[in-house]
Amino acid sequence: MTGMICGTGACVPERILDNSEIAEFVDTSDQWIRERTGVEQRRIAREETTVSMAAEAGRQAVEEAGISPEDIDMIITATATPDQIFPCTACEVQKELGAVRAVCFDMNAACSGFLFAYQTAQAYIASGICRNILITGSERLSGIVDWKDRGTCILFGDGAGAALIRAKEGKQYLPFACSDGTGGSALTCPGYAGKQDGDQKVISHISMDGREVFQFAVRRVPEAVREVLKKNDLKTEDIDWFVLHQANQRIVEAAAKRLKTEIKKFPMNLQKYGNTSSASIPILLNELNRSGKLKKGQKLILAGFGAGLSWGASVLEWGI
Ligand code: COA
Repeated sequence: MTGMICGTGACVPERILDNSEIAEFVDTSDQWIRERTGVEQRRIAREETTVSMAAEAGRQAVEEAGISPEDIDMIITATATPDQIFPCTACEVQKELGAVRAVCFDMNAACSGFLFAYQTAQAYIASGICRNILITGSERLSGIVDWKDRGTCILFGDGAGAALIRAKEGKQYLPFACSDGTGGSALTCPGYAGKQDGDQKVISHISMDGREVFQFAVRRVPEAVREVLKKNDLKTEDIDWFVLHQANQRIVEAAAKRLKTEIKKFPMNLQKYGNTSSASIPILLNELNRSGKLKKGQKLILAGFGAGLSWGASVLEWGI
């Protein structure tokens, strides 16, 4: 028994903030941001919340999977930016969708959140506890970005993505995941007080040692990919798509180079959305799925990395 993705969804805010607009309030330029990160624009939530985006993405995934909300056994929402501390985002999503039978909880592993939610869902399915699990990654990072810090505000964006995972007969792939709390100071956000009277009341911001995080990612992502391939007795040539967390184009390119794999197998959409943390992998997956690029039976690797520090990778077979 394995968990197969049977539906995907995504929801991003309407408001587009492009690089030249950012250059109006911090000392930067469109050219600098494109060259160093690949990002051209990002979405910024106005009316949209972490819950509303997660629920919309989840609704699409459930619809594509062709099940009814009552069939969902579990909802896991990966987020580092919930609208409130509790009830958790996943319970709010449950309420929105009418997934009355689901057990719901949030997971915060920053940018590795969706990957870890995926691996957790697989474990629940493998053990026979659940048959249908909705996982969502949803972030409203604009609320914790320091808009005066040009080193970080250029990178991030808001959005949500989702996948509906169903128990099916099939090969079960082993996951790879790792954390190193001793490196945590490279990327932090000490406190966050969610929503108050309709506005985000922010008590601290993202703070980052960009070079250190860059080096961490460039080293750890290829390592995670190699580990997960080894665990499953696979080679890089066996993989059709490498769906990496969308943080920086140069990180993705460096990973492809280190893995000696052509860059066209590493799809990217960070140009449009920036780094949406736990939402980046499912937003990209949804784009690939809905545009017909993913074919049934193809093998994918999902790879995440981020604050914690945490990183990991999973192999999956596309089943839609
Ligand atoms: N516009 C213009 N100049 C900028 C700038 C900006 N937005 N941000 C930083 N700079 C400046 C720096 O002040 C520095 O100037 P100095 O040499 O006069 O001190 C110079 O550009 C180089 O800074 P550096 O930090 O070395 O740049 P970089 O090439 O490492 O790029 C990042 C910075 C943030 C784009 C890059 O380090 C990065 O992407 N890191 C990973 C971040 C990440 O992915 N985080 C999330 C992980 S989940």
